[in-house]
Amino acid sequence: MTRGRQKAAIVFRQLVYILILLFLVVDFGNVLAVLVTDFYLQAEYYLYALVGKGNSMAVTLKFGDKVTVADVRKLHDMEDVVFDREWFEETEDRNQDAYYMFRDLAKSNSDHETIEANHLRYDITVIPPEMLGSEYIKTVGHYHPRVPGTDISYPEIYQVLQGSATYLLQKVKNGEEDLVLDVVVIKAKKGDLVLVPPGYGHVTINASGETLEMANWVCRDFSSVYEPIKRLSGASYFLLKDGFVKNPLYKNTPAIRHLKPLDHDELGLGSTESMYELINKIEKLRFLTAPQDFTAFLTGVL
Ligand SMILES: [Fe+2]
Repeated sequence: MTRGRQKAAIVFRQLVYILILLFLVVDFGNVLAVLVTDFYLQAEYYLYALVGKGNSMAVTLKFGDKVTVADVRKLHDMEDVVFDREWFEETEDRNQDAYYMFRDLAKSNSDHETIEANHLRYDITVIPPEMLGSEYIKTVGHYHPRVPGTDISYPEIYQVLQGSATYLLQKVKNGEEDLVLDVVVIKAKKGDLVLVPPGYGHVTINASGETLEMANWVCRDFSSVYEPIKRLSGASYFLLKDGFVKNPLYKNTPAIRHLKPLDHDELGLGSTESMYELINKIEKLRFLTAPQDFTAFLTGVL
């Protein structure tokens, strides 16, 4: 080896050492990334978990050409709805992340204009496979308000992108939030669609042992109603390792009806197609913003 080459090799090695040192000393993302490439859903999004100092986490999602930072639900946000009180009281770090919401996604500015003009929103939620003590991890749960000038509330549609989900849907009597009229559970795997019809509060449970990633289309003109489910310490059932148990704070809770996901044909989608593609057939989503015009379809889904 010539002298010049030897020198270059030494400089290169030193550079590598410096880079390694930088990675170790500067907390430049203890880690980079959980990359989600879901081929049959056309690898349309990438999830990055950047772990910084002191366990604080910035989780971002790249969707189309835009990067969105997660809205994080922390463990303390779950306080009112956790079944296993003993576990919760003993958990010191209640500031730890529970799950991640990426709201108002669009692959391009022109897609976003279309979505906004149609009063819609496309979100992705990521729920790691943690336990809340003896209970499977879940979303806090909420209802949707009524469409102004009608007595029908906004529906919502979900699609599982990765992992599998257990959707718990519950309907209570008007004006009596603890009197349960109907409880439906729908298990959904990758690609499956679940429609939450008007009037149903909903909780998504990840009982799968792997990270759940799911998308939803919903009307963008309202805020969800969280209080009734929080006041009653959760939904009408909890899903524990041993199965579903009733929440004693509800009255007349019927047995769970187990139903299947929505047929893809109902929305004109192929069975492996991402529901984001409905952006190209946006009129198919009008039932989300004007459910009063689609009552036959919406009452027939459960
Ligand atoms: Fe919802």
